[in-house]
Amino acid sequence: MNREIKSDQKGTEIFVGTGTKLCGIIGDPVEHSISPDMQNAAFSRLGLDFVYLAFRVKKEDLERVADSMRVLGIRGINVTMPHKIAVIPFLDEVDDLAAKIGAVNTVVNENGVLKGYNTDASGFLRMLSTADITIENKRVLVLGAGGACRAVACVLAERGAEITIINRSFAPAVELAAWISREAHRKVDVLDLSTGNMESCLKKADILVNTTSVGMSPVSNETLVPEKLLRSGLSVVDIIYNPIRTRLLQEAENKGAKVISGLEMLVQQGAEAFEIWTGEKAPVNEMRRAASGALKANED
Ligand code: ATR
Repeated sequence: MNREIKSDQKGTEIFVGTGTKLCGIIGDPVEHSISPDMQNAAFSRLGLDFVYLAFRVKKEDLERVADSMRVLGIRGINVTMPHKIAVIPFLDEVDDLAAKIGAVNTVVNENGVLKGYNTDASGFLRMLSTADITIENKRVLVLGAGGACRAVACVLAERGAEITIINRSFAPAVELAAWISREAHRKVDVLDLSTGNMESCLKKADILVNTTSVGMSPVSNETLVPEKLLRSGLSVVDIIYNPIRTRLLQEAENKGAKVISGLEMLVQQGAEAFEIWTGEKAPVNEMRRAASGALKANED
């Protein structure tokens, strides 16, 4: 028998009982995660007997988290910074894409067997297809070469994009490009961060993806791309979700470009995780509404 324990300020009703399945997110820190808002809203929307909590976990406790999932029958977890790589040795299986990327952000517990996925990657693809953006043979300029870039660049290359990476530091970009070439068998160009390089790339590019942290709150008035280089016909994706509309996206929209916020990637990676855990089609509109509501509430 379920009983209502909480109807939070955002109006999400959560029911728990002896049959309730537990999901959650582990990270450090994890307090500002909006995944609990998004996932609980989705469970509630479909009337599923699931609940989602946030757990601050230290790296040295990851093995015990994996054991706890098996012992307590925890159905699934999301894994966020800084544990996406470190969690892998404690899983029983890792799906091919996550293994290739070398990072896991979603784990499902199938009768004690823990399997890892990378829904940042699959969510990124789902986000592009939702926006009717195709990748094959498209010229894509990727800004950045950090951890968030690996999943994005890997799936872009696998789907046949022609990628150029521009990064402030050259060495990590060269390393990332070499890794993509090995894994996805695509040649990737690397250029220094300069207005000249940006201009020549953007003249020919179909898609621009910002995977750097430039423009993220609280320094949200920054952008790496001069506005004059943006134009209609270009699709611009920013993986930053706070603010929802970065300066880059605002300026791109002013110039008539198609723009997609990182909020959409966050929602789509969450939708993929939801579907892995529940086997149900994710209520994406509800998840988007909850995620943007939580972000706005965090700003207040
Ligand atoms: P994540 O793992 O979330 O991608 P990260 O590894 O710190 O975070 O990577 C952040 C990316 O933003 C890097 O590509 C970084 O460039 P460097 O490799 O030169 O550090 C880029 N970045 C961060 N601040 C930047 C800035 N002020 N100007 C240009 N690039 C910046």
